[in-house]
Order: sequence, then C-alpha cells, then structure tokens
Amino acid sequence: MYIVLFIVLVVAAAPVSADQNDTHVLIVYYSMTGNTEEMARAVAEGVGSVDGAVAVLKTIDEVEKDDLIRADGIILGSPSYYANVATPMKNFIDKWYFDYELPLFDKVGGAFCSGGSRTGGQELVVISMLMAMMNNGMIVAGPLYEAWGTFGATSVTETPPHDGVDKYELGDCRLLGQRVASIAKRMNALR
Ligand SMILES: Cc1cc2nc3c(=O)[nH]c(=O)nc-3n(C[C@H](O)[C@H](O)[C@H](O)COP(=O)(O)O)c2cc1C
Repeated sequence: MYIVLFIVLVVAAAPVSADQNDTHVLIVYYSMTGNTEEMARAVAEGVGSVDGAVAVLKTIDEVEKDDLIRADGIILGSPSYYANVATPMKNFIDKWYFDYELPLFDKVGGAFCSGGSRTGGQELVVISMLMAMMNNGMIVAGPLYEAWGTFGATSVTETPPHDGVDKYELGDCRLLGQRVASIAKRMNALR
C-alpha cells in the first residue's frame, strides 16, 4: 500500500516532460521608441506558429545568462544608429564572451532591425549581428519566401509614406521567427 502511495507521489511530483521537448527561441531586443519592440512581438508570433516551439521575449535589460543557455534559437533586434548596431545591443553581444563566457555553438540565430530612413543601414545592422553570431559558433538563418531568402527582417519607420512598422514588415518578422524556430526544432531532433 505504502509503495503504491510512494510511486503515486513521485509521478505526481515529476516535472512535465513536454517542456523539455519544446524548442526554446529567445528573442532579445533593444527599443527606445517602440518600433523594434513591435517587430520583436511579431517575431515571437512567428516562433509560436511552429508546433512545439516556445518564444521567450526579453529586452536587453531583462535577459539573463540562463536564458541564453536554455535557448535553442536566439533572435536579436536593434534599431539602426548611424548605420550601426545600437550601443546597448552591442554591449549585450560583447557580454557573451566577457561576462558570460558562453559557448553558443550550433544554436540557431536570426536578426532584425528598424531604421528611420530607406537605405538607413538596416541590412548592415542585421548582417553585423549575424556575423557576431557566426563568430560565436551559431548557425544563422533569415526569412524564407517562395523562391528566395533574405538576411533578416527590416523596417523603414520615418520616411514618407512609411509611418511606423507596416503590415508587410511585420509579416517578414513572423517569417523570421518561423524559420529560426523550425530549424532549431530540426536541430533538436538530431541531438
Ligand atoms: C542616435 C540615433 C541614430 C540613428 N541613426 C539612424 C540611421 O543611421 N539610419 C536610420 O535609418 N535610422 C536612424 N535612426 C532612426 C532609428 O533607427 C529609428 O527611429 C528606429 O525605428 C528606432 O527604433 P525604436 O523605435 O525601436 O527605438 C537613428 C536614431 C537615433 C536615436
């Protein structure tokens, strides 16, 4: 009788294993006026559209070392500042080595950027974040369309007729989240 009771208690206390099988995609962003944040939320929706994938959405101030360790995929978002990654996001990236001493090998990475003007350096910022990820041993990917792929998702927010992030740009963000999550899920299945 007591043995049966003991077994019941142990099973009841065991954590649900579904979480361990989930694919975790961490989305980290820096945003001062909300455009990059809006894009980050759409990226999270794209991650959530993949079965068994969980989006973890954090600002650079909220994210912790454990979030990076647990992540199967990492997607970064920064505004374009003088055609460069915004300093707070670059400081976060530099922490990977200096503070966290973290191996990010074979985690799947992606990037997105918001800029005020057309040709405002958005692609340079995306590529710069992807290069930092590859330098840390990560596998990088961008949104996929019917017959081609792109480096990441970008937006033009302040040049007419653009006013904020538009629905097409948000669609690109969802595709980015979807792609990174589905590759990370396939990588998990190989482990
Ligand atoms: C210091 C500074 C530098 C900027 N430099 C650029 C730039 O080089 N190219 C560009 O397209 N936009 C530039 N912008 C505009 C921002 O990238 C744009 O407003 C962006 O949408 C802001 O994102 P957020 O709303 O997430 O803060 C700059 C803004 C600031 C504050």
